[in-house]
Amino acid sequence: MAAAEGQWVLMATGRTPTNIAVIKYWGKRDEALILPINDSISVTLDPDHLSATTTVAVSPSFPSDRMWLNGKEISLLGGRFQSCLREIRKRARDFEDKEKGVKIKKEDWDKLHVHIASYNNFPTAAGLASSAAGLACFVFTLGKLMNAKEDYGELSSIARQGSGSACRSIYGGFVKWCMGEKDDGSDSIAVQLADETHWNDLVIIIAVVSSKQKETSSTSGMRDSVETSPLLQYRAQTVVPGRVLKMEEAIKNRDFESFAKLTCADSNQFHAVCLDTSPPIFYMNDTSHRIISLVEKWNHSEGTPQVAYTFDAGPNAVLIAQNRKTAAHLLQKLLYYFPPQDNDLSSYLVGDKSILGVAGLHSMKDVEALPAPPETKIPDQKFKGDVSYFICSRLGAGPKVVSDEGQALIDSVTGLPK
Ligand code: DP6
Repeated sequence: MAAAEGQWVLMATGRTPTNIAVIKYWGKRDEALILPINDSISVTLDPDHLSATTTVAVSPSFPSDRMWLNGKEISLLGGRFQSCLREIRKRARDFEDKEKGVKIKKEDWDKLHVHIASYNNFPTAAGLASSAAGLACFVFTLGKLMNAKEDYGELSSIARQGSGSACRSIYGGFVKWCMGEKDDGSDSIAVQLADETHWNDLVIIIAVVSSKQKETSSTSGMRDSVETSPLLQYRAQTVVPGRVLKMEEAIKNRDFESFAKLTCADSNQFHAVCLDTSPPIFYMNDTSHRIISLVEKWNHSEGTPQVAYTFDAGPNAVLIAQNRKTAAHLLQKLLYYFPPQDNDLSSYLVGDKSILGVAGLHSMKDVEALPAPPETKIPDQKFKGDVSYFICSRLGAGPKVVSDEGQALIDSVTGLPK
């Protein structure tokens, strides 16, 4: 299989975005294959702000499969990693790199071990959906390296076996994960509803909420909900199918009012299911509830939704504004209630910082001068320190190959993380 002395290292690097569901996936009908009990719909976030980068390397000199996440070695023995590795290896094809003198036959891929290094460009500790981007990137990049056929539907069904929500990170823009019907899961795949240019006015502001609480993982939380929540069955069978159709329509027509109402209602129902689980699961905290109230009051006072909110398995708020003007308005309200603890505005908002200028917030003086939002009941009530920081982002594109070797995370000579 190998060329010169078998000492070569072959690598590929990919970058994959994270996604946020606006119609939530919660509950599996098959734990091993990760098959859901309802369809879900998500928006893909700009990879410049929230993404995973992964380098995968193979070499005849590697004695075993190894993986490093954010610089730390982690075990690859878990069933989910193994499923993804096995499925991509099955689809590997002949490969030749004439320059390196490397030729790998389809059947040889099985004998080669991989080294994988991955990192997230946002803090994993922030509790943002890092597994979706990470697993999707693992599958996408491995597929590139092993010259697997470019079938995104199939790639999404492999990523799904790593983590359900990961299947939606295979595309940019608006994505639907079709639950499928088959027992083998082959029709449980993600499809793109529209790419990121379809509705590019939307602005996403994420409030990373401070929390000391150890959260229940999505995997175990949804298992408990399936076993104990009667509301979950009602949701999956009766509510979600209609909501998915309406959401597809709202996205197609760029109908923000409908999009926002459905997004908020679905997030609230997901958290109601968590409360309906025995023992109950609390993902949101007081700060999350405060942010919901702020948005609800504002939307109500305007008579039409300005902003949508959605919360995953944690207290962080993902807020979707109709355009930059409403996003700037939202930021003014958020910074009024949740000013930065250390008076440092520049590190308090990361991502697309230009929104600060649109909101007229150039320094802490501007933040301190913000007037109380008109819907405030108790002026002067502020919650400094309850939000760690904000991220301003937008919709983004799907996975990409990073061809600049300088950005690879593995050294092409040693085959180890740089
Ligand atoms: C609340 O995809 O993390 O974010 O399939 O067990 O890995 P596993 O769960 P995961 O669950 C995501 C749940 C959610 C909703 C969503 O993303 O649709």
